[in-house]
Amino acid sequence: MAPTLPANTGPQSVPAGEGAGPWNGTLVRSRIFDALSLLLPAGEAFFVATLERWRTEASPDGVLAAEIDRFIREEHAHARAHARYNAALIDSVPAASAIAARATQVTRDLDSFGMPMKLALVAAFEHLTALLSREIVEHRRLIADNDSRQSRTWHWHAHEELGHCRVAADAAAHAGVGRGLLALALVVATGYLAFDVARYAAALCRCDAARGTSRRKLFGQACGFAAGSLPSLARMACGWWRGMAMPARPR
Ligand SMILES: [Fe+2]
Ligand SMILES: [Fe+2]
Repeated sequence: MAPTLPANTGPQSVPAGEGAGPWNGTLVRSRIFDALSLLLPAGEAFFVATLERWRTEASPDGVLAAEIDRFIREEHAHARAHARYNAALIDSVPAASAIAARATQVTRDLDSFGMPMKLALVAAFEHLTALLSREIVEHRRLIADNDSRQSRTWHWHAHEELGHCRVAADAAAHAGVGRGLLALALVVATGYLAFDVARYAAALCRCDAARGTSRRKLFGQACGFAAGSLPSLARMACGWWRGMAMPARPR
């Protein structure tokens, strides 16, 4: 059964201290996914705006239009859930608000691209999201299964991502976006996500160190996470290469 969304509490009603602890096994492992969460509301707003605009311009057939409706509905819900998650994090680590602001600025910059590149980028980010979601849902790796808001949000989000992971690629195919542009977008999206998640997780860990967490302990946790994630990274790398050959034709 698909997990349910955490209770719909607004940012002002976030329980005190909710964003402070190691909800995902260790502090470093928690901060890696906290960093990714900070990027998501702005990113998902970009996905929604791109597909809404393309749907208006291209008037796709009924099946794809319905899939885009579902995609937009689900991505709006994800952005709202991660905004609540991020509010708790910012409450505990105020420096995290600058990271969310930077993500908003980056997606504004992406908006200056033409529609083919924007569709290719959305398809690429959705492919990366699906690879991560498969690790969470099918292999039960990366995210601890517990009753924290963060764990429940990630599990619920990952299930929905797997349900709509082909929609952006189908829109790109209908729009005639070529394989070369899709491959370029996948390289750009991967570099952006890997670089930003790594540096923002490091920034959050520096805040934890400034508040007394041992740097040696954080380094040990980072090494342990890297070693324990090797099977997931290998599977995701295989999926990434398959994504380089995304079909450019509509299904
Ligand atoms: Fe999403
Ligand atoms: Fe998605």
